[in-house]
Order: sequence, then structure tokens, then C-alpha cells
Amino acid sequence: MLQLPAGFRFGMSTAAFQIEGAAALDGKGPSIWDTFTARPGTIRHGEDAAVAADHYHRYVEDVGHIAEAGTHDYRFSFSWPRVLPGGRGQVNGNGLDFYDRLVDELLTAGVRPVPTLYHWDLPQALEDEGGWMNRDTSYALADYAAVLVDRLGDRVRDWITLNEMNVQILYGYALTDHAPALGLGLGALPAAHHQLLAHGLAVQALRAGGAATVGVASQHFPVSPASDDPADVEAAALFAGLTNWTFSDPILLGEYPDPEFTASVPAGDLEIISAPLDFYGVNYYEPTRIEAPREGKDYHGVLEVDVPSGLPFSPVAVESDERTDFGWAIVPSGLTDILVTLRDRYPGLPPVVVTENGASFHDGGPGPDGRVHDPRRIAFLEAHLGAVAAAIDKGVDVRGYYVWSALDNFEWAAGYDERFGLVHVDRDTLDRTRKDSWFWFRDLIAGQPRS
Ligand code: FCB
Repeated sequence: MLQLPAGFRFGMSTAAFQIEGAAALDGKGPSIWDTFTARPGTIRHGEDAAVAADHYHRYVEDVGHIAEAGTHDYRFSFSWPRVLPGGRGQVNGNGLDFYDRLVDELLTAGVRPVPTLYHWDLPQALEDEGGWMNRDTSYALADYAAVLVDRLGDRVRDWITLNEMNVQILYGYALTDHAPALGLGLGALPAAHHQLLAHGLAVQALRAGGAATVGVASQHFPVSPASDDPADVEAAALFAGLTNWTFSDPILLGEYPDPEFTASVPAGDLEIISAPLDFYGVNYYEPTRIEAPREGKDYHGVLEVDVPSGLPFSPVAVESDERTDFGWAIVPSGLTDILVTLRDRYPGLPPVVVTENGASFHDGGPGPDGRVHDPRRIAFLEAHLGAVAAAIDKGVDVRGYYVWSALDNFEWAAGYDERFGLVHVDRDTLDRTRKDSWFWFRDLIAGQPRS
């Protein structure tokens, strides 16, 4: 069995909008994702997350599934509009009470809570004031962080600020595949800066509230050119700069990859954004391959997301013999590559935690034996943990690995078809069934060296 170093932390991840449901219950306000899912044509089969996995009502059972696997850490997110229905100002006591109960349930079960402040579900009230294009939103996030650390800081020691700024900015601000679907292209860059500023301000607020460790969860992917053609190499470097380094350089180096952009941001912002972190979260799913657009070539339908024409780069399919049922290329070595790249790019890189990694396979419900057999997920997770072990062998300081996801949930624009869970959720009854991968994960954790 694969052995990770003593003290290595095994975890499971989820996000509020994807599992909680109770979308308008007990005082919760609407988020941009509630608005987006209500619009026809946005979600694959027109589903919404009004009920999702009904975790809001079933969290005690869900904590049981997490804890009984021996999971050390549980990464979940707070719903900002559940805590602050208007985004700022009036606190919703019911919302805070829910997270209070969840944290206590986890601690009683021996699981360490690792909450994320913001996993994409911006209060609609803030979007109405310009959302992430408005600098005030960064300060609103810091105030929201202060509310949470004030209430939970006596029991929660580890905090994550924002989830995957690059993915939200790319799909929701530059393109229109995710909420709030603004389609601003490169005009989305101010929103990126404001999320980064929000991260820095939240670090300050969390530390002021006594947080022991603070990190961020970033999606990273190795980007390779489709050929050695210098035009492809240049296009790939540009794409990697925009989607990877624009988000991590400010945090880890205190500057943007583009010196002109660095010079254009207000004085003092980059100092706030680059305050030292205790850990750096890396979410990894698949690599990206880029070419310089070929004259007359039709890129429509090549990938799940259409990138508008007219840009100086085009994502093309990654060559891989194996794909998940979501169509994502299975390339475990990409995880080693990106971890090594981050270590080499950032001399001051704090210890890394892989805060998300996992795969959607359309497992189907429990068979006659009552079990959900998902051997492909087990193989996927085993191979990616092997890739983490390989990075550790190469000297990268990786301290933990969290599986996306604890349970099947609402996979954003793809709805409920895509199933990432270690625990199966029946869409009609919402009954939970532990998949074979859950048992595999439990045995893996039990077989690790004692710390
Ligand atoms: C990541 C998201 C997460 C989940 C996985 C599959 O980009 O952070 O919420 O949807 O992808």
C-alpha cells in the first residue's frame, strides 16, 4: 500500500452551493449561482441547487461518512449569503448557527474543520453593486471573514480564504459558462485583482481574529504547447501567465507576471495580497494544451467550454488514452509536474496541501449487493496520490491531500450528471451509499504510518 510521510493529512472537500440546498431557507439570501441556475439554458439539464444533496438537513449523517473513514481534515465552504443575506451588514443568526453546529459535529467526531470563506457563491446583493468588478466587494469579504472568525475562531484553527479565483474569473467573468456570466474577456482583469485583494484583506481579518493557519485554494494546471512551433510556445506561455501566474505571482511574489499591470494597481495592494501564508492549497484535475489559433480552423466543440475566437491562444484537447466520464484527461504526472513547477517558481512557497483532486465517473446506483463499485475512481485516486508521493520525493513539501469530493453533488454548469463523490447520493431519495472508493480511502488512511 502507498505510504505517505507520518503526519500527512488525508481529507475530503466540498463546497456550500454544491451540497447544502436549503437555498432560500432560514433567512439565506440569493447568490449569483441561484440567479444563474434559474436562467434557462445555463445548466446542462436545467437543474438547480435548491435541494442539492440536502446537506443542510443531513449534515449529521454526512459528518458520519466523513469521520468513519478516518478522515483527518474536512474542507467545506461557508455560504456567504447564508451568513450575510445582503452580503454585508445584517448577520443571519440562523446561518451562523448552522455552521456552529457543523463545526461542533466535526470536532466531536474527531475531524478537523478546514473551511473556505468563499467558493464562488457571491451574494446577489453584492453582484447588483458590481460584484467583483467593484473594489468594495474585497472589503465586504474581509468583514464577512471577521464575522466568521469571531464566532468560530475558538474552535476552527485552519482557514482558507478563496477557492480557485482563476476558474471563477475565467468562466464567470471573462466567459459566460459560470455565474455571473459577464463575458468580459480581458476586461475581467479588475475582478481578478479584487479577488486577490479580498484574499489579502481576509488573511489580515482572520489573523486579527486569532486564526492559527491561513491558506488559499488555487487551481493549477501544467500548460504545454501543442507543438514546438514558436507560435504555439508563445501562445502557451501567454495562456499560462493569464490563468496560472496572474493569480499566484501576486500572492507568492508580490507582483503580477505583467509589469505593466503591476504598475497599474493601487499602491499598497500587492503588499496586502502577498502577506505570508501558512499553507498553499493546490487543486488539480488535468493539464491544458495550447496552440496559436490556426487560420480557418474551427475550435467549436473541441473542449467542454468554448473560448471565443480572436484571442491569441486556443486550448486544444490533451492527448491521453484515459478520460474520466466528464471527458477530462487522466494525467497523474501533471500533478507532480505542477507541484515541482510551483516549488521552482516560488522560493518562498509555504507547505502545500492538495486541497482538491478527484474524478467524475457515472458510477450508477447501488447494485444487487448494495454496493457501488467504482474501480476507476480508486485507480484515479491511487495514481494521483502516487504523483503526490513522487513530488515529495523530489523535495516538494506536501502536507496533505483532500479528495474532491466527500459526496456526489451539484457540479456547476454540468448539474448532477457528474459524480465526484466517495459517497453516492440517490437523486430521488437523496439516500447516501458509501462507494467502494470510500472503503479504499478508509483502508488507505488506516494503513499509514503513525505520526
Ligand atoms: C473545481 C471546483 C469544485 C468542483 C471541482 C470538480 O474546479 O473548485 O467546486 O466543482 O472543480
